[in-house]
Order: sequence, then C-alpha cells, then structure tokens
Amino acid sequence: MDSRVPAELERKIDEAIGHYPPDQKRSAALPLLHLWQEHFGLINDDAVTWIAAKLGLQPINIFELVTFYPMLREKRAGKTHIRVCRTLSCAMAGSYQVMENLCAATGIQRKTDPAAAGHTPISVSPDRNYSIEFVECLASCGTAPVCMVNDDLHENVQPDNAMSILSQPAEKPALYPPHPLEQRIIFKNIGRSNWKTDIKTYLDDGGYDDLRKALQMSRAEIVNEVKTSGLRGRGGAGFPCGVKWSFIKPDEKKPVYLICNADESEPGTFKDRYIIHEDPHQLLEGIAISCFALNARTAYIYIRGEFPEGARILESAIEEAREHKFLGKNILGSGFDVDVHIHRGAGAYICGEETGLIESLEGKRAYPRIKPPYFPAVLGLYMCPTIVNNVETLCAVKHIIAMGGAKYAQFGRPNNTGTRIVCVSGDVERPGYFEIEVGKVTMGQLIYEMAGGIKWGRRLKAVIPGGSSAKVLRADERFKLKQKQPDGSMMEEEISIYDLPMDFDSLAAAGSMAGSGGVIVLDDSRDMVWVLNNINEFYAHESCGQCTPCREGSLWMKKITERMLNGGGVTEDPHTLKTIGDNIAGRTICAFGEACAWPTQSFVEKFPEEFAAHARKSIPPPLPPEDTPRELIEREQIPTSPLARDPGWEKAGADAVI
Ligand SMILES: Cc1cc2nc3c(=O)[nH]c(=O)nc-3n(C[C@H](O)[C@H](O)[C@H](O)COP(=O)(O)O)c2cc1C
Ligand code: SF4
Ligand code: FES
Repeated sequence: MDSRVPAELERKIDEAIGHYPPDQKRSAALPLLHLWQEHFGLINDDAVTWIAAKLGLQPINIFELVTFYPMLREKRAGKTHIRVCRTLSCAMAGSYQVMENLCAATGIQRKTDPAAAGHTPISVSPDRNYSIEFVECLASCGTAPVCMVNDDLHENVQPDNAMSILSQPAEKPALYPPHPLEQRIIFKNIGRSNWKTDIKTYLDDGGYDDLRKALQMSRAEIVNEVKTSGLRGRGGAGFPCGVKWSFIKPDEKKPVYLICNADESEPGTFKDRYIIHEDPHQLLEGIAISCFALNARTAYIYIRGEFPEGARILESAIEEAREHKFLGKNILGSGFDVDVHIHRGAGAYICGEETGLIESLEGKRAYPRIKPPYFPAVLGLYMCPTIVNNVETLCAVKHIIAMGGAKYAQFGRPNNTGTRIVCVSGDVERPGYFEIEVGKVTMGQLIYEMAGGIKWGRRLKAVIPGGSSAKVLRADERFKLKQKQPDGSMMEEEISIYDLPMDFDSLAAAGSMAGSGGVIVLDDSRDMVWVLNNINEFYAHESCGQCTPCREGSLWMKKITERMLNGGGVTEDPHTLKTIGDNIAGRTICAFGEACAWPTQSFVEKFPEEFAAHARKSIPPPLPPEDTPRELIEREQIPTSPLARDPGWEKAGADAVI
C-alpha cells in the first residue's frame, strides 16, 4: 500500500472497485478519481500513477479522464468552492449578475479567456478561502438562478443578495401539491405531507408491492405489459420502452445489464432530480422490476456528478432495500439476484447520450459510439446486451405493473400514452414541474393556467418545448396538425401555439420535439441573438470533439453569435450560421450534432429580423491572430493585432517539423 493513501481511503477504493466485474476494473476509474479528489483536493501526478497502477492501467488512461471531465481538478480550489449556473434559464434570471456580485464580495479577480468565453478556469480568491466557476445547467431551472456551494444547491439566489449563500445554509423551496390539470402518478408523493424518503414511509404506502407482483409474473408477461402500455422513453428520443426491451433475447447467454440514465443535463429539464431526492425507493422498485423482466442481474445508476446529494440518498436507499431483501441475493425468495450500484459522472453533458454514458461507465472518455454496430441492446456495457432507460421511464414501469399496461395506455393519447413530467422555466410567474397526461394539456394551458402566465404581464414571444436542443416555436406561428375527429376520421387542422397538445407527435408535427420535457418560455423582452448565443455556448463547451462538424461547427456558431452581440455582426452572418447548422445535422456520430444545430437553424429561420438587426456590417472585423490562417497573415491580406503569445506548435506545424 502507498503510505500516503490512508487505510480508510484505500478501503473505500477497494469497495468501489468491487462494484464492477473483476475483469472490468477500469470502470472504477471515475469513482476512484472522485474519492481521491474528495480526500486530497486535487488530482496530481501521484494520483494519476497511483490510480493507474491500482487498476492495472497506463497513467495516460487516467490522465485523459482528468482532462475530459470538468469536475476533476488538477489545481486546488478554494476552501469554499462555488459553482454558478450560466445556462439559459439561470442566465435569464440573473446568474451573470450573481457571478459578478460573488466575485466582488469574495475579492476574486475572474480570469477571462476569450476562447473559453464564460467557461474560464476556476478562479480563486487571494486568501484561497473561495473559488468560483461558471458551470452548465444544474437541473434546477425552475428555481433559477442556482449555485452550488461545495455540495449544497442554493436555489432562487437573489443577485443583489448573492453573498448570503456563503453564510446561510441552503434552503429547499417548498414542494407544491398538484395543479388541478395535473395527473400525478410518478410525482404522487412529491409535496405530500409527512412524506419521507426512508423505506418505512415507502412500505407503509404499499411500496415494493409491485415488485412482489412482478416476481409472480413471467418475464415475457412483464415485457408484454410494458409494450401494451405504449410507454415511450422519457429521456429525450421517445423510443417505445417495450420494443427496446424486446431486443434482449430471452435465452441470452451473455450477462445483460440495465443502466438507469440519471445524467439529467439537458438544459430546461429538472424532473429526475426530484424523483431521486424525494422518492428514491420508487426508482429502485422500477429498476428491480425492470431487471427481473430483462434477466439483468446488475444495474448501474449513472448519476451526474453535480448530484452529490442525490447519490448519497440513493446509496442509503439501496442499503435499506438490500436489508429488506428487495435487492441482493434471492430477492424476496424468488431465486433472482440483482445488485444496483451508483456510478457518478463528473460533469459532461455528453454522458447523457447512452453510448457516451456506456464508455464513461467503462472508465473512458464519454465518446459516443458509432451505431451500428454499437446499439446498446446488442453491444452495450462490456460489449454485452444493455438497456439504458431514463429515471422517469423506469418509474413508469412500476406503475404499469401496478395497474396493467392496458389501463396505463388509457392515460394520454394514442401513441402518446401515460403521464409525463414537464418542467417549465424561464419567463413565467410560477415555474415548476407538472405531471400531465401526455397530450391532454395544451401549451397554452401549461403556460397560462399551470405556470401562471408570463411574468410582469409581458407577452409570450417564443417557447423551446423540449429542452434547449428542441427547435424554438414562435408565439404567433400556426401549425398544421392531423387531429382525430369524433367519427374517428383524421382531418388536418390549423392551430396556434396555445392549442398545441403537449405530446410527442404533436410537437414533432409542429416542427420541434417533446424531448426531455423541459419547456423554456421566452417573453417579448428577450433578444433572440442573446438567447441563441447562450445556447450556443452550452453546445460549444459540451461537444465531445470526436466529429469535426460538431466540434468546429458548434464553436463557430458560438463565435458568430457572440460577435453579433458585441456589435461586429456582418450581413452574411445569419446565412453563415444557417449553413454551419445545416452542415452539422446528420453528419455526426451522435445526436448531439442535431441537438446543437437545431437551435441555430430554427432561431435564424424564425427570427430573421432580429438576426439581421445584429448583422449590419459589410466587412468582417479582423480575427484574433490565433484564429487567422497563417498564409493570410503572411500575404498581409488581412489586418491582425500583434501576437499575444508565441503560437509554438502552430509555427512548428507550418514548417513541417512535427
Ligand atoms: C446529447 C444527448 C444527451 C442526452 N442526455 C440525456 C440525459 O441527460 N438523460 C437521459 O435520460 N437521456 C439522455 N439522452 C437520451 C439517451 O441517449 C437515451 O436515449 C435515453 O437515456 C434512453 O432512455 P429512455 O428510452 O427511457 O428515454 C441524451 C441523448 C443525447 C443525444
Ligand atoms: S456529434 Fe458531437 S458530441 Fe456527438 S460524437 Fe460527434 S463530436 Fe461528440
Ligand atoms: S439549473 Fe441553471 S439553467 Fe438549468
């Protein structure tokens, strides 16, 4: 044993390694890096070599993680580390002001790196008591702006009183009962008086009875119930869950894995966090039933690194469920063994994409895999059949077993069955979560009745209906939708945004998507170039970098919208933006390509007047030297400012010496 690693830390490290198959120790890389950073405060060369040796890897296998996952730090943070969310709903609620005020109060001079825009390295106060950084959506957009102080989430931070988050404990805003238009099934316990997250409360409420029921059914019966229910995945793509499950062969010889996707990073989405924090046993029951149906003996909950409290709550719920024989060996005397482990991410949005998630769970950078052949149900975790489902989807499974697939399918609309949780944030009076029958509530009801209408009496300008990747809808648009008539025939009708049903098919027909259920509302004071620039910054930061169109294109789009905002927009910019978007979508390994192109394509198309107003100059301004092609500088065809730094490898590259 390394004498610098205390026995208790090494015990935790060995325990973490035990969560993965003996020949897959690499999976423990991220957990070990978390444990190391929590103990020593940073990941230095010693950490890299020690962890690599412990897992039988090369140091580069560990170092490449440190440089990929933003939560891993090579330099020590301050005693109190503050993360300020800079993503859209928080930025709209004043998070940039929060950042400024916190810096002023703590004496932090924020380093600014123009290439990284909002994302500069952690800045530390001179006394090293505080450090601060901007981070992306913390899945709490309904209570924007939000910050994390060490592990604690502070919600509804008032910009003028931001300093109070450093002296006062985080207060959880009250949970609220259902709105009359809601149909709470998964959220039925949220905000219930005397509801606690312990197993006793859950059991007193009939908890784990559905697992008992499922264990009496055959695997095929459970899969059929889920198929009959019509349940579509709640993570973003809306793929039918039962169909996905039926890709697993009943006589599969390899181990089958279930992964619960608790990465919840799509800006505007904040439902899974509430399930995890308020009703963890509901999720575990859904997972146990799903594992039994799929004959999966191991499940991993991949939870984003920014949910430390959620990870702790789930760990203790798993412990309780094991003690009560709902998890572990021979659950409830059924002869079926199932283990559930928590695996924490470390701050990269792309870990939500299921094949990126699997790579990350295998201890690598979260580079999405090429499909085919890597469809997870065929070649997933450790090249074994794997089902990846969202937190909410797995909770719905429990209720499908309770009521039967046919009854579940009566909620919602055909092909859009059941309930789903929609999250409303942005310029509304009462942002929050609402569990609705899919398609039984319209966009107008959601915004005006459930979320209290537009703030400050302003008017609706636009809605992003399914997380920030979804194409924006204009308030004055008309949509042509096929609607079922009382006699059963289908007829095309033209409807306004107010009458648009909140379901998968209607939002797709309207040219956008239901996505992850994150509805971001924009009022008529919003500058659409500013909004798009905020979104572009998210995608430019989060691209994993594997595909050239996505890596380069997302950055170019951000640079152009930023230049437009700074007064340097040229007449060609809207067209250039659209062309870049068109050249990303459909040309990349994963759907992040579409996710980053759709906002730009739709904003430019739907708000041409605003983009034109920001793009009046005829000649592009000079580029900074690092962005200027060398041959143009040499030919002195374009002006540049003097080199701020020696470009090093760029020179070497031009002289062909590397
Ligand atoms: C860029 C990207 C990010 C994603 N992020 C998430 C996420 O945070 N949570 C999630 O459940 N699904 C996310 N997904 C969808 C997953 O890839 C996958 O489809 C989903 O977890 C499947 O579960 P479901 O069928 O239950 O929806 C993302 C997809 C993409 C392309
Ligand atoms: S599309 Fe973007 S995020 Fe997806 S694999 Fe390619 S570079 Fe990575
Ligand atoms: S929590 Fe800040 S935008 Fe989602």
